[in-house]
Amino acid sequence: MSDQREFWNERFAKEGYFYGTTPNLYIASHIDRLKPSSSILFLGEGEGRNAAYAAKLGHCVSALDASEVGLEKARALSRSFGHEITTIHTDLELWEPTERYDAVLCSFLHLPEPLRSDVFAKVIHILNTGGVFAGEFFSIHQLPKTTGGPKDTTLLYTAEALEKILTPLPCTVQELHEIDIELNEGRGHIGIASVVRMAVKV
Ligand SMILES: C[S@@+](CC[C@H](N)C(=O)[O-])C[C@H]1O[C@@H](n2cnc3c(N)ncnc32)[C@H](O)[C@@H]1O
Repeated sequence: MSDQREFWNERFAKEGYFYGTTPNLYIASHIDRLKPSSSILFLGEGEGRNAAYAAKLGHCVSALDASEVGLEKARALSRSFGHEITTIHTDLELWEPTERYDAVLCSFLHLPEPLRSDVFAKVIHILNTGGVFAGEFFSIHQLPKTTGGPKDTTLLYTAEALEKILTPLPCTVQELHEIDIELNEGRGHIGIASVVRMAVKV
């Protein structure tokens, strides 16, 4: 498996939850709108703050990540709320989805091209009718900021680039814009940050 695994395993091996134990606010807003007992896949879910929140609400939750250390903490966090989640340990480079979902959600999943386009296309094809794919990602304008995110332009997002990926896919864009927001997520994301928010339906 790639460098991603090593990098994130090392980070998540440290004490505590790097991005906190409460969900990303944008992702939570999508979870809150889902029908009871929805099936949700979280991509690049790390230590599981979004997955644990969704499980607590009674949804059927799967969390995928390249870091097994992150996924172990994700299971522990969900269990601390009295719920089990399914974890999928794989690099997205190798991902061959076998299930369908009502929602696929991700926060700060920073993929280079062509992996980004490949993963987005796979996601659209595994959504049930009426399903949603939503994510919050650092934008290119985050580069000079010190409030989180990779310092590598190939991993950062723009609304235009996402529009190009989504346009040929069988989905309807509901929300796609760049915005500056204040993050307060563990010790990993603190302060004003530039993000792209995306939500599409099939
Ligand atoms: C910035 S962290 C965000 C974690 C979580 N979504 C959150 O917001 O708390 C990025 C996560 O994406 C995962 N990731 C990055 N590239 C990946 C890949 N190619 N395959 C699987 N997971 C990947 C990392 O292991 C890490 O857990």
